Amino acid sequence: MADNTIFLGKSDKPEVLYLPLANRHGLVTGATGTGKTVTLQILAEGLSAAGVPVFAADIKGDLSGIAVKNAPPDFLVERAKQVGLEPYEQMAFPTVFWDLFGEQGHAIRTTVTEMGPLMLSRLMGLSDAQEGALNIAFKIADEEGLAILDLKDLRALLKDLADRGKEITTQYGNVAAPTIGAIQRQLVVLEEQGGDKFFGEPALDIKDFMRTARDGRGYVNIIAADRLINSPQLYATFLLWLMSELFEQLPEVGDADKPKLVFFFDEAHLLFSETPPGLLQKIEQTVKLIRSKGVGIYFVTQNPLDIPESVLAQLGNRVQHALRAYTPRDQKAVRTAATTFRANPKFDTEKAITELGKGEALISVLDLKGVPTMVERTFIRPPSGQLGPITPEQRKAIIADSPVAGKYDSPVDRDSAYEILAKRAHAAAAAEKEAAEDKARAKEEKAAARAPRERESATDRFIKNAASSVGRQLGSTVARSIGNALVRGILGGLTRR
Ligand SMILES: Nc1ncnc2c1ncn2[C@@H]1O[C@H](COP(=O)(O)OP(=O)(O)OP(=O)(O)O)[C@@H](O)[C@H]1O
Ligand SMILES: [Mg+2]
Repeated sequence: MADNTIFLGKSDKPEVLYLPLANRHGLVTGATGTGKTVTLQILAEGLSAAGVPVFAADIKGDLSGIAVKNAPPDFLVERAKQVGLEPYEQMAFPTVFWDLFGEQGHAIRTTVTEMGPLMLSRLMGLSDAQEGALNIAFKIADEEGLAILDLKDLRALLKDLADRGKEITTQYGNVAAPTIGAIQRQLVVLEEQGGDKFFGEPALDIKDFMRTARDGRGYVNIIAADRLINSPQLYATFLLWLMSELFEQLPEVGDADKPKLVFFFDEAHLLFSETPPGLLQKIEQTVKLIRSKGVGIYFVTQNPLDIPESVLAQLGNRVQHALRAYTPRDQKAVRTAATTFRANPKFDTEKAITELGKGEALISVLDLKGVPTMVERTFIRPPSGQLGPITPEQRKAIIADSPVAGKYDSPVDRDSAYEILAKRAHAAAAAEKEAAEDKARAKEEKAAARAPRERESATDRFIKNAASSVGRQLGSTVARSIGNALVRGILGGLTRR
C-alpha cells in the first residue's frame, strides 16, 4: 500500500483513507454497539503511525486501550485474516491522558478571558439580556486590564459591575441588577459541574496537543469524558473552545501531505443540540476554515441527522456502521445516510445500512483528486492496540511517564480581577479615610486661621497620588497578565499571534 494512505479494512479490495485528504473532515456513525469506537481507534492508530497527532474524547474509557498492547482475542485474529492484514502486529501507541477534573489525566484548563463571552454564554445557557450584560463585563475587564482567569474573578467582576450600577449604565448601557443576579446563579451551577476546575492556570498550551514521539509517531491525546459527559454543556463547550483555539492559533498551511492534527468529536450531537443559530453559524464557519490550517475534524455520532446539513456537507470521509430502522425517524435517518453516499451498482445502500454486522461499515472517502469514492461495504480492520480499557495502574504509569508530566498538575493562582478589585476597594477605602483625616486637620487649621486653600490642594494631591499608585499597580499587573490589546476570534475566544 502507498505510504500516503491508512488501511481501514477490506471490501472486495483494500479500503484506505488518503492522508493528503484527511483534513477534509470525516464522519463515523452507527447505532450503539456497531463498532464506532473501534473504528475511531483504528483511525487514530493509523494517523499516529503516519506521524499525525490526534485528539479524542473517551466517553466510555474503552479508547484507552490504544496506549497498550496485548494478545488479541481470537475473533480479532480472525478479522485480521479476513481483511488480509498479515502479519497482524500488536502495538502500543504514544498516548497522553487528559482530564478536565485532573483525575484520570493531566488537568486541562483555560482562562475565562481566553474563552470569551460568546462561548461562556453558551456554557451557562444565558438569555440574550444576560449575554449582553456579560459582554459589558468582558468589555470593562478588557479595557481596565482585569484578567479574568477563574470563576472567582468573574464573580468579583460581576459584583463590581453591580456595585458601580449607574456609572456603568451611563457608559455602556443598562445592566439590570436582577440580570447580574441571574448570571451569578448560573455561575454557581457551572461551578458545581466542575467548571471551577476547568477555569484557571496554568492554561493549556495547544502545542502540547501537537507532539510527536521520538520515533516520529504522533501522540494520541485522550481526554477522559466519562464524567464530563454528565455535564453536556461543559463537554460541548470545552470541545468547541478547543476547536476555536486550534483555529485561532495555527498558521495557514494550504495543501499538505498529511494533517497537522486530527480531532475526533465523539457524541457530536451535543455540539449542535440547543445551540443558538448565531453560534451554530460560527461553528460551521470554523469547521470550514480550519481545514486550511491542517486540522481534520471527525464527528462521531449515532445518527447522521444529528449533524446540521451545512456541516454534513463538509465531511468528506465517511464510515457508516449499521443503523436500525424501527421507527419512522430511524427510517428517515437510514434514507438520509444513504443519500450522502455515491451509490455503488453492486448493492442497495439503504438496505445495506440496516444489514451491516459489528465492525462492518459502508465507506466512502475522498480520493486523491478530492472526489468521493463509490461507497463500499467494508470489514473494518482490527486495532493494533488493545481492544477495551486499560487498568487504573496502567493509566497511572502512562501519566507519570508523559511528556507533559508535572506541567499542568498543580493549579496556580496569580493576581487577577478578584485580587485587583479587592485591592482597588481597599485602596479606595484607605484614600477616603486619609482624605477625611486631612479634611479634619484642615478644618482645625482653618480654625486657627491658617491658609485653608493650600491645605485643600494638598489633600487633592494626596488623593491623586494614591490613585495613580493604584493605577501603576494595575498597569503592571495588566502588562504581566495580558499584554497588549485583546483581539477576539470567530468564536469570541482570544487570539494570540
Ligand atoms: N473492526 C472490528 N473487528 C472486529 N470486531 C469489532 C470491530 N469493531 C467492533 N467490533 C466488535 O463490536 C463491539 C462493539 O464495538 P464498539 O465498542 O466500537 O461499538 P460502538 O459503536 O462504539 O458502541 P457504543 O455506541 O455503545 O459506544 C466490539 O467490542 C467488538 O467486539
Ligand atoms: Mg463507543
